[in-house]
Amino acid sequence: MKILSAEFVKSAPSVKECPEPVHPEYAFIGRSNVGKSSLINMLTERKNLAKTSGTPGKTRLINHFIINNNWYLCDLPGYGFAKVSKSIREKWEQTIKSYLHHRENLLCAFILIDIRHEALKNDLDFLSWMGMKGIPFAIVFTKADKLSKSKVQQQLAQYKKKLALQWEPLPPIYISSAATAMGREDILELIEITNKEFSA
Ligand code: GTP
Ligand code: MG
Repeated sequence: MKILSAEFVKSAPSVKECPEPVHPEYAFIGRSNVGKSSLINMLTERKNLAKTSGTPGKTRLINHFIINNNWYLCDLPGYGFAKVSKSIREKWEQTIKSYLHHRENLLCAFILIDIRHEALKNDLDFLSWMGMKGIPFAIVFTKADKLSKSKVQQQLAQYKKKLALQWEPLPPIYISSAATAMGREDILELIEITNKEFSA
């Protein structure tokens, strides 16, 4: 899919204030600093569409972008960020879960996981919650450029083993790098196919 236009729409503190749910929507979710905003910029080939930062906790609102005037990308705050107070952390988690639960035009949530990390309990718990709620999702392993090709495959195999204990079949899985644009074509293809199904 060609990205012809990509524009910021609005930042919303809660799902109620999100833009009208008139277009298919895709959300990017994951722990703070995993690379959600960077992935959105990589996919849209816009350097600063979504604000990125080396300091976790940069994205604090539900940010909508409209792509090609006919579908939404949504950048969410990170979960499990240890450096904010417990009450703020819980508030963000509530915001994210309420968004996921109530956003009727959400067609797929991309759950981002840093390829360098071991399977973490709060990521696995989050996936279970998605499954329980029946929200369609795909997994994107980020920052593949930080490891050698063989190490990437090793991490992926380990993670798949963990996932297989719970998921059959496994959800769609992508490997990405915002630095090299790895994964871009495949992720955009999933979005393109899903958009077509939506309008059919
Ligand atoms: P919050 O909004 O704080 O939850 O973070 P986020 O998930 O949006 O992460 P963000 O995109 O801001 O990236 C966090 C840091 O990781 C930044 O310093 C990015 O430059 C870096 N980063 C993100 N993706 C990649 C990647 O694929 N490769 C490399 N090498 N660095 C990346
Ligand atoms: Mg962000």
